[in-house]
Amino acid sequence: MSEPEQNDVNALWGGRFAGGPAAIMRRINASIGFDRRLSRQDLAGSRAHCNMLLAQGILKPAEAHAILKGLDAVEAEIETGRFALDEAREDIHMHVEARLAELIGPPAGRLHTARSRNDQVATDFRLWLREALDALDRDLLALLRALLAKAEAHADWAMPGFTHLQVAQPVTFGHHLMAYVEMFERDRARARDCRGRLNECPLGAAALAGTSYPIDRRATARALGFDRPMRNSLDAVSARDFALEYLALASILGMHLSRLAEEIVLWASPLFGFVRLSDAFTTGSSIMPQKRNPDAAELVRAKSGRLLGGFNALFAALKGLPLAYSKDMQEDKEPVFEAADTLALCLAAMAGMVADLLPQREAMARAAGLGHATATDLADWLVQQLDLPFREAHHVTGRAVRLAEQRGLALEALPLAELQAIEPRITAAVFEALGVTNALRRRTSEGGTAPERVRQAIAAAKARLRP
Ligand code: ARG
Repeated sequence: MSEPEQNDVNALWGGRFAGGPAAIMRRINASIGFDRRLSRQDLAGSRAHCNMLLAQGILKPAEAHAILKGLDAVEAEIETGRFALDEAREDIHMHVEARLAELIGPPAGRLHTARSRNDQVATDFRLWLREALDALDRDLLALLRALLAKAEAHADWAMPGFTHLQVAQPVTFGHHLMAYVEMFERDRARARDCRGRLNECPLGAAALAGTSYPIDRRATARALGFDRPMRNSLDAVSARDFALEYLALASILGMHLSRLAEEIVLWASPLFGFVRLSDAFTTGSSIMPQKRNPDAAELVRAKSGRLLGGFNALFAALKGLPLAYSKDMQEDKEPVFEAADTLALCLAAMAGMVADLLPQREAMARAAGLGHATATDLADWLVQQLDLPFREAHHVTGRAVRLAEQRGLALEALPLAELQAIEPRITAAVFEALGVTNALRRRTSEGGTAPERVRQAIAAAKARLRP
């Protein structure tokens, strides 16, 4: 239906409108379907604003008290699910105000003094995201704790380290998990930075230019837990970089989750067999009884795409918008809400999977020794003990690897005499450098995979995560 619906002029801004909106206009315009998630923040903002208007003598005590009581009643309705939603009332801000008017009559019309939906929505959204970032911090901490516990339990278990997904050099399982601890700690820091920057209050910017009423922006900022009012009224109502910043950090975090998820998928494949996933995080196949599918990991891997999609959607919507508010900005909320939901789900699933997964020591150790993974150690020994230039050592080692391959032996299983046939100065001491355990033990450089270094890294991370 595209006919204008007469007799239904919006009560809140309908003063100069003769006809109501087309039905389709109402549908495209309405945001109540999603911005009802801002109801608590909207009430908090309205209370702070009302108290400030009262303190500044802009509202009379009787009016302010009627408004505050009415807001309590609205809140009770929302919390008990009795609050009626109606697309004709567009968004959460108009819903609250319209219901307030039904409940308390004329004083409701004074709440919007010295305020606009433009500074109102910017304030509500910042409050909402601040809470979402606090929840994200808790979820990240839980994942970090699960990773640390696993890393500690398997700090010295050998596994292959890969480059190009080819067996490269041995590392420990603990070291590998600690790499993710580093990534997720940086994600936490990004979230903290974002929270710090967004915690400024737009309220009082009004529609875009400020207001002629003697308002006290510091009081409302303080009441809502903001660090300070935003400095520029135009910026206050039109800035959405805080939402974009959140979506960017969510996308990066999603990328980290996706990489770990992919590793879990690989490790759980019987061809690797490095970990066994618990029944709680796998599914069976309806046709192949032997299958244990890592569905949760696969879904975490896939859902990271939504996060990046949200970032792209909002970035594209904001790019090229003139100052100050444009309705385009109403499109900021869904990607952010969806990102928060996706992250909560993925972080909980990942923490559960990590806590539950059972590393398989034998399979990892066997794979760690494949493909002459300690060849670099032979070359390093030749440099360190015989003072060969590294390039020459590399060449000697290459010949030893070829010989081992011909014999079907591991490098460290070659007889000394055969190594000496390649380089006569090699002694029996070389065997202290070869083999997976020796290779791990000797990687003692800062940030290296030697088990003693890994244990230090775990202890340091634990200290950082202590509240
Ligand atoms: N629902 C709107 C939004 O989310 C609220 C702000 C509306 N402001 C306006 N001038 N139409 O952006």
